[in-house]
Amino acid sequence: MAQTYIGYSPDVEVIGEDEERLTAEILEIMASTNRKAFERHRHAVRDAHAKSHGFLKGELVVPELPEHLRQGLFARPATYSVVIRLSSAPGDIHSDTIPAPRGMAIKVIGVEGERLLPGDQGGNQDFLLVNIPILSFGTIGKYRQLIGLLEKNAQNPAFLQRAMAGVARGVEAAVEAVGVEPGATLRGLARDNDHLLGETYHSMAAIRFGDFIAKISAAPLSDNVRALTGKDVGTVGDSTMRDLVVEHFREQGAEYQIQAQLCTDLEKMPVEDAAVLWPEELSPHQPVATLRISPQDAYSPARRVYGDDGLSFNPWHGIREHQPLGSIMRVRIAAYERSVRYRHEMNAQPRVEPASIDAIPD
Ligand code: HEM
Repeated sequence: MAQTYIGYSPDVEVIGEDEERLTAEILEIMASTNRKAFERHRHAVRDAHAKSHGFLKGELVVPELPEHLRQGLFARPATYSVVIRLSSAPGDIHSDTIPAPRGMAIKVIGVEGERLLPGDQGGNQDFLLVNIPILSFGTIGKYRQLIGLLEKNAQNPAFLQRAMAGVARGVEAAVEAVGVEPGATLRGLARDNDHLLGETYHSMAAIRFGDFIAKISAAPLSDNVRALTGKDVGTVGDSTMRDLVVEHFREQGAEYQIQAQLCTDLEKMPVEDAAVLWPEELSPHQPVATLRISPQDAYSPARRVYGDDGLSFNPWHGIREHQPLGSIMRVRIAAYERSVRYRHEMNAQPRVEPASIDAIPD
């Protein structure tokens, strides 16, 4: 049976009355915790996903797709260069002995189309993905409650201890306190330290997919990374995740499948609440491209400095055809800009936006 995909139109988004105030409050709290991280390190780190585990050059191969999937950068067969940053979610640098959600940020270089942000000088499309399918605090209001609670408890040793002893338990407490369903986030966070190259990474929230609306994911495709799915990595030290990435890419490559899950029902697959898992039965994740990565040095000093201090990834670096959707995406416009501005200023580093893969150091 042919699927009916919901067409994109601006009214799939509903802007709340208090978003401006909530955005300002969220930014203020994030700025304050970010400044504290700077004071500890005497170096500015990202406000989220501060710790990198690897930087990879690769290719995104878009094949000839069925008509409904020929959207945005997937409209025509093409091969793009990409740069990928692998990370852990906290906005500070912790030991890998503390389990944390992982991030995969993908920058697709040289994508044509109308830019989302005025003054955006790059020609790239970023996809920011995390190894959990949803965001429990999936609206700007819930997100404000969550980070307020974390801040309020920053001096509460019992709460902090729980938070630090395991991100899973810390977030569980926070999530319960703001009264949202733990659900998939907790299942994701409660996992042990599995191999990060075997994970499936998700946009969590929706984006415009040309004529339609979708959530994007990247799933292990080649046998070598599929074999790492759910693989406990054994004894973990401070930098085990980076070591695993470096070790893997020293001699091997990897392939991931980029998938789009198209919205078929705005009630059951809402745009304005990223806490709702879009049911696979209503709409499967459909392959739209392959990410190909060859063996390489994934963490050379030059790459680390370029990737951590020069590069920035942002869901709003991109084209109108892939506009991020929903309040949790709208708050990210200001949040990423503030984080980037602060860390580049404090580290006295120019912002870089690669126009070609040659800009990425080996
Ligand atoms: C909707 C789901 C979200 C996903 C999948 C996501 C994912 C990511 C990823 C993968 C990174 C690391 C980028 C890199 O490697 O440079 C990142 C960074 C960041 N995220 Fe998010 N994020 C989400 C929501 C949010 C929200 C709601 C906020 C704040 C309101 C936020 C604030 C930030 C900030 C400030 C950074 C650092 C930016 C920089 O300095 O470069 N994120 N996010």
